[in-house]
Amino acid sequence: MGKDVIVACDFASAEQVFAFLDKFTGRKPFVKIGMELFYAEGPSIVREIKKRGHKIFLDLKLHDIPNTVKKSMSVLSGLDVDITNLHAGGTVRMMEAAVEGLTRPDGTRPLLIAVTQLTSTDQESMENDLLIHEPIDKVVMHYAANAKKAGLDGVVCSPLEAGKVHDTCGSDFLTITPGVRFADGEIGDQKRVMTPAEAKKIGSDYIVVGRPITAAEDPVAAYERCVKEFCD
Ligand code: C5P
Repeated sequence: MGKDVIVACDFASAEQVFAFLDKFTGRKPFVKIGMELFYAEGPSIVREIKKRGHKIFLDLKLHDIPNTVKKSMSVLSGLDVDITNLHAGGTVRMMEAAVEGLTRPDGTRPLLIAVTQLTSTDQESMENDLLIHEPIDKVVMHYAANAKKAGLDGVVCSPLEAGKVHDTCGSDFLTITPGVRFADGEIGDQKRVMTPAEAKKIGSDYIVVGRPITAAEDPVAAYERCVKEFCD
């Protein structure tokens, strides 16, 4: 699986996402569809974007009892997405059930990636709200190891954690990293950021880039710049 730039299409409607994708003539960026767009438009948005020739990371972060997750994953597998995800906090058993549900009769399946601790969760909220008292780095690595044990393909993590995840889980365990910004760009609400070139150096397998591309004056040029820095 080669390195790639995944564009976070955080738009509220199909109309907006198609207007954005129409700017790319001849190029078919890997697209991330999140909860907002999926809940607004339903599964048809996945089929439409797939029909246009894009690879899709469906970012719905499932977390429920194993049986429900298994059946839901089976539905997502039928949508023919390339990558989907869940919360590692749902336990190893839930993640194993997800792999089962996602696997098609012919043995193929989309890549399955775990969210460890959300980057919006800090040490304080993890201790106070979740009663988890280990250091957050240790918790993230433990959840990544659980994901690997359950047969998943990788984790979503900060680019700063990608190297350590590879050290813990092996170099072929995928790291998908948001929090990417150009050296001369706006950081916005992201706290710990890296440039595409730095993310490449540290060993991220995929970078997820939203606003530096979607809000750019020239989104195609911003995308090409990301690809050049990260993939070349
Ligand atoms: O616009 P921006 O580049 O910040 O978008 C990053 C994307 O990655 C958004 O879709 C955001 O929800 C997602 N993401 C993130 N941090 C995480 C997990 C997902 O920014 N820890």
